[in-house]
Amino acid sequence: QQIRKGSFDHFMLKEIFEQPESIINTMRGRVNFQNKTVKLGGLSNYISAIRRSRRIVMIACGTSYHSCLATRDLFEELTDIPISVEIASYFLDRRPPLFRDDTCIFVSQSGETMDTIFALKYCIERGAMCVGVVNGVGSAISRQTLCGVHINAGPEIGVASTKAYTSQYITLVMIALSLSEDRLSKQTRRNEIIDGLAKISAQLEEVLKLNDKIQAVAETLVDKPKMLILGRGYQYATALEGALKIKEISYILAEGILTGELKHGPLALVDEDIPIIMVATKDKLFDKIINGIGQVTARSGKPIFIASQNGPALIEGSNKKENGVTETAAADYNGAEKSYVKFEVPETVDCLQGLLNIVILQILGYWLAVKKGYNPDHPRNLAKAVTTE
Ligand code: G6P
Repeated sequence: QQIRKGSFDHFMLKEIFEQPESIINTMRGRVNFQNKTVKLGGLSNYISAIRRSRRIVMIACGTSYHSCLATRDLFEELTDIPISVEIASYFLDRRPPLFRDDTCIFVSQSGETMDTIFALKYCIERGAMCVGVVNGVGSAISRQTLCGVHINAGPEIGVASTKAYTSQYITLVMIALSLSEDRLSKQTRRNEIIDGLAKISAQLEEVLKLNDKIQAVAETLVDKPKMLILGRGYQYATALEGALKIKEISYILAEGILTGELKHGPLALVDEDIPIIMVATKDKLFDKIINGIGQVTARSGKPIFIASQNGPALIEGSNKKENGVTETAAADYNGAEKSYVKFEVPETVDCLQGLLNIVILQILGYWLAVKKGYNPDHPRNLAKAVTTE
């Protein structure tokens, strides 16, 4: 039943809309919202060994790699263990030093990606503890890793990964929570995150209600050959993953950029024509975000914002120039009038905000592809699982 499109035109849109449910399935039987505990059966015998590792290396490709980036900060914060995040092919190109007291986490939707499997083989040979985070039950990676967690997102058919990303993200958050369960000093923070997880599905449902508005904005962007997506901190991964969604199915040259790097090069691309999406939800980096917005608007850039619902003004001086997304506001994007389109998403804990923000870009990518006449479920030149090197 899960592999029928139902009332949706494409699997991709169906899978985007499944996310409030798929993320619940990822947490089912694992997160106890009352007692504020997390139990991951597949890791229970290994958690204390992982806690003792001198380093955690997360290894993946594509969207799965972005889920690692999205949660790296939280791993660092909750475990105090050095974390590195690796693209499997680049890791193999380098053949870096790796030790028996390293833990390697392999993240893969299919569990069959050849680059990731080869990286796993490399790590096994060096005696590292290898953990799998996969969707594909019985897949090569789930069989060859010592232990692991299935993300339980259900079958994902669309080549562009959507619900697997949010479920991988939540799984990695659960692993970080589990690893820090013995840390008294992290208790308050852990409780705050678990409370955030309890509400996240309903909030994701809210974001899906922006579908029509996102479609209207997509209409104004459909002829643009390139676009920039800017984010920082937790939202750097959102920028990269959003750009990947847009380029793989709409073939627009979308580049995800770390806002802090803007001044070191990409600022040269900014003018009034190039679409710039800025992830500007409120978190501890808000002042820096505002600074980045200033850098863009000072060069006549007209950002489209992903911002917090009822959040503070983003454009200096007034809120008037920031239109909540209406079709008029979307139309203004190409008009002479300076007006900024803003998608407002519910606020959650900083480390979970990316779960809501990415949905805007998944939907935008979908509509850009459809409006350009492409089939988002079957992007040219791409495969769902790449089983060659
Ligand atoms: C392919 C897919 C991507 C996916 C990547 C990694 O390139 O088109 O959507 O993110 O492989 O796949 P995995 O199954 O390892 O997550």
